[in-house]
Amino acid sequence: MMIALASDHAGFNYKENTKELLDSLGLAWKDYGTDSTDRVDYPDFAHKASKAILEGECDRGIFICGTGIGISIAANRHKGIRAAACQIEEAAYYTRLHNDSNVLAIGERLVSWEAAERIIKMWLDTDFEGGRHIIRVEKIDLP
Ligand code: RB5
Repeated sequence: MMIALASDHAGFNYKENTKELLDSLGLAWKDYGTDSTDRVDYPDFAHKASKAILEGECDRGIFICGTGIGISIAANRHKGIRAAACQIEEAAYYTRLHNDSNVLAIGERLVSWEAAERIIKMWLDTDFEGGRHIIRVEKIDLP
C-alpha cells in the first residue's frame, strides 16, 4: 500500500513523524509537501495529494494541518476522496469500518503525537466492513 502524505506548516512536524512510523511498519509513502514550517496554504497540499490518490499513484492518504479540519474539507472537495478528521482512535476505527475513508486527517495542534500514532495505527489496521455500508458510501458522491 502506497500512502500519500500531505501537510501545511502546522502539520509539518507530525508529517515527518508519520514517515518514521510508516517506515517502522514497513509501509511505503510519498510526500506531497509541504517541506518546512514556513507558512503555506493547506488546500494546495490537500489537492496535490488527493489527485495522487485519485490518479492511482497512491492508495490512501494521511493529511495533517493544525486541526485536521481545513485539510480534510479541501480533500473532500474531490469526488472519490473520503477524508475523516479524527481526534480519537474510535473515530479512526469507525471511519474505516463504516465510511471506507481513504484519507485520515490529523490536527497537530489538537492531539499529542502519542495519540496521533494510535489513531494512525488504528486507521491503517481497520478494514471496511462492506455489507450495508456499501450503498451508503456509494451515495456520498453527488453525480
Ligand atoms: C494554520 O494556521 C491553520 O489554520 C491550519 O493548519 C488548519 O488548522 C486549518 O484548518
